[in-house]
Amino acid sequence: MTLALLSGHNMKDTMEMTVSQPRKGPTREEVQAHRGASAVAPENTIAAFKAAAEQGCKWVELDVALLKDGTAVVIHDGSVDRCSSSHGQLADMVAADLSGIDAGSWFSKEFSGEALPTLSYAIERLGELHLNINVEIKQHAHHKSLAQLTGTVHAHLRQRAPHTQVMISSFDSNALKAMHELDPTYELAMLWSDLPRDWADVLASIPAGTIHLNYKALSIAFLEEASRRGIKVRAWTCNAPQLLVPFWDFGLTGVITDDPSHFLT
Ligand code: G3P
Ligand code: MG
Repeated sequence: MTLALLSGHNMKDTMEMTVSQPRKGPTREEVQAHRGASAVAPENTIAAFKAAAEQGCKWVELDVALLKDGTAVVIHDGSVDRCSSSHGQLADMVAADLSGIDAGSWFSKEFSGEALPTLSYAIERLGELHLNINVEIKQHAHHKSLAQLTGTVHAHLRQRAPHTQVMISSFDSNALKAMHELDPTYELAMLWSDLPRDWADVLASIPAGTIHLNYKALSIAFLEEASRRGIKVRAWTCNAPQLLVPFWDFGLTGVITDDPSHFLT
């Protein structure tokens, strides 16, 4: 308003100036905490999800895999070696083994005793935290079949709280196709590190309306084309908001980040 008075603009001009301001970042609904707020708490744990909620996030991304007995757990790797105080392959573990796992101390002693969550428990707690879920389906060599993995994920998601929104992401287009067959209302996001030339054909074959792309592979030309086709694009895993500033005005939809606080100011 001060500017308008000084320069002689009327209110309508001032509003037009405001409307044409460049977008500097995502809306709150479009900031997803990658493996929870994994910059400040151990990834893929309830502590990381709570931290995301405390930062004001509405969405978390988490990774799902199966143990030998088919139990769905929230973990990125095929073993517990990197993110726990134990050692072992998921292929050799059953649900009863989870009670002996400390998935927090490796990050900081403050999180000592943090559990490696089952998907079922995570969905329940995320409902209580009023966090929506981006479930990344990870294919691992020990899984018996894709159908077992997708069927298990779908069965658990059906138990979610009524207010919990979900989307499914995967680097595997077949996993997304299987989820579409189980429930055609799922939002499906194809994950890519680099954009393939035939990205539009791959999306149409699933069918999916969203791409989650490594932020380093973003370009304005691609975003314009995606926008033209009505495709949503989210960037992963970006922890530095300034790197995305050039893209918001060209249709970038959202961000998946280890440190949501940087995008929620
Ligand atoms: O959702 C984006 C991101 O999670 C994909 O990579 O390896 O961190 O699961 P990754
Ligand atoms: Mg992931």
